Amino acid sequence: MKFFLLLSVIGFCWAQYAPHTKTGRTSIVHLFEWRWFDIALECERYLAPKGFGGVQISPPNENVVITDPSRPWWERYQPVSYKLCTRSGNESEFKDMVTRCNNVGVRIYVDAVINHMTGSGVSAGTSSTCGSYFNPGTRDFPAVPYSGWDFNDGKCKTGNGEFKSYNVAYQVRDCRLLGLLDLALEKDYVRSTIAEYLNRLIDIGVAGFRIDACKHMWPGDIKAILDKLHNLNTSWFPEGSRPFIYQEVIDLGGETITSSEYFGNGLVTEFKYGAKLGTVLRKWSGEKMAYLKNWGEGWGFMPSDRALVFVDNHDNQRGHGAGGASILTFWDARLYKMGVGFMLAHPYGFTRVMSSYHWPRYFENGKDVNDWIGPPNNNGVIKEVTINPDTTCGNGWVCEHRWRQIRNMVIFRNVVNGQPFTNWWDNGSNQVAFGRGNKGFIVFNNDDWALSATLQTGLPAGTYCDVISGDKIGANCTGIEINVSCDGNAYFSISNSAEDPFIAIHTESKL
Ligand SMILES: *[C@@H]1O[C@H](CO)[C@@H](O)[C@H](O)[C@H]1NC(C)=O
Ligand SMILES: *[C@@H]1O[C@H](CO)[C@@H](O)[C@H](O)[C@H]1NC(C)=O
Ligand SMILES: *[C@@H]1O[C@H](CO)[C@@H](O)[C@H](O)[C@H]1NC(C)=O
Ligand SMILES: *[C@@H]1O[C@H](CO)[C@@H](O)[C@H](O)[C@H]1NC(C)=O
Ligand SMILES: *[C@@H]1O[C@H](CO)[C@@H](O)[C@H](O)[C@H]1NC(C)=O
Repeated sequence: MKFFLLLSVIGFCWAQYAPHTKTGRTSIVHLFEWRWFDIALECERYLAPKGFGGVQISPPNENVVITDPSRPWWERYQPVSYKLCTRSGNESEFKDMVTRCNNVGVRIYVDAVINHMTGSGVSAGTSSTCGSYFNPGTRDFPAVPYSGWDFNDGKCKTGNGEFKSYNVAYQVRDCRLLGLLDLALEKDYVRSTIAEYLNRLIDIGVAGFRIDACKHMWPGDIKAILDKLHNLNTSWFPEGSRPFIYQEVIDLGGETITSSEYFGNGLVTEFKYGAKLGTVLRKWSGEKMAYLKNWGEGWGFMPSDRALVFVDNHDNQRGHGAGGASILTFWDARLYKMGVGFMLAHPYGFTRVMSSYHWPRYFENGKDVNDWIGPPNNNGVIKEVTINPDTTCGNGWVCEHRWRQIRNMVIFRNVVNGQPFTNWWDNGSNQVAFGRGNKGFIVFNNDDWALSATLQTGLPAGTYCDVISGDKIGANCTGIEINVSCDGNAYFSISNSAEDPFIAIHTESKL
């Protein structure tokens, strides 16, 4: 009895840190700006069979319709109400997506925008995705409803209502971020209203939340909202399951607010991860892959069991948010695949893969002047994600998660789940390799000359199919084959001009 009680207490305490992915599925994918209908299909036709654990979706609640510029992606970060009604779909389509994805064991995580409503300068009217009236000037959002009492206007002491310094914590939390009307999250009415919205999503069957702009909210206010949340729907989750929480906190160091203030609420986005990995793979600032030997906490990152990690996200892939020019994206495909491959092979953190759309990137004075452009659309209506005969996506969708190298590394991570970081090798430069116990091994050559080395893989003897250059199909391999001898050694040769200068093998790619 005592033992049982202890277990259940521990279970409860750890609950918001558990992603509730199906056993053995270890990564999620952000299907940025996809329609609910397409996500439902993708869960069934691709994500479930390829071992993806879940999907981060774009905010599902009603937002302002911005016409100048025309329908930017960021309009979805300006809520008008909590009606499930956006360019991605309506409430019935949302429910259908959640049900269908859960039924094939793929979880849905909602991007929850709860720090603020629309910008203060947006005109009053019904220019919103569901046609709800709102008036930012008078702080009136009747479709919620919120009124002037529910915003932080009185609390911010900076004069113009905007925060002035990232080094004054109360300003960052109580003042406006880029003019966005800042909700008074210490009010029980506001907390309850937000919790009601999130609970509706939980009841429908979502598994958790990415909480937007957490640095701009007091950790205690977030906790008060989380404490009001229901357990997950028992149609798909065990009794007593708490929603998975990961908080967007941009902490690159050097500011007064740190990620660690938020660990009590759930996981936190580790923005140092992509910024540093990009710097290493680009070989900027004298960095080398050999230095990745102690990647993770050894690089000053947060504890692994609190870290939500990613190579790029929807903000920093277009110069917003944080990380700067070092961030790797699909625009630098060769290095990007290496970066995502490294992330998925390495045990640190809970991994999120980015899935993007193309936009006409155009730099003027070092800034992408098209960084606002929204998803592929016809007169504002988001385009379908079409699938080409070669399984890639059409209609302007990049679908990095379908690239063979990335999809196969998602599987690699599932296969090596729980295995230790082993058999590190480097040449003192940019040729490195490591294993995950006796389940998987990966080798990178980011030097400007060939790699040719016999390395200890830790794997059982046999012939393995490299899942970067090809696929194991039945008993055949469409890519490079690697022979592991009885002592676990294998010979690797990787040209510096290879299309993808890395090789990955695991026990399920054994021929
Ligand atoms: C939701 O959208 C679908 C597809 O466009 C449509 O058939 C359905 O009538 C809509 N439902 C509501 C309640 O608007
Ligand atoms: C859980 O989901 C099922 C299936 O959609 C639904 O019938 C049920 O009402 C949901 N439970 C709650 C508590 O909302
Ligand atoms: C890196 O690797 C190559 C071949 O694997 C080797 O010849 C070289 O000496 C290594 N070290 C450095 C510092 O380049
Ligand atoms: C494997 O390759 C052999 C020889 O090319 C071929 O006969 C066989 O059909 C292939 N098997 C599969 C599952 O593709
Ligand atoms: C791997 O081993 C197989 C079977 O022993 C052999 O046919 C093949 O040539 C070897 N491949 C390499 C790259 O050494």
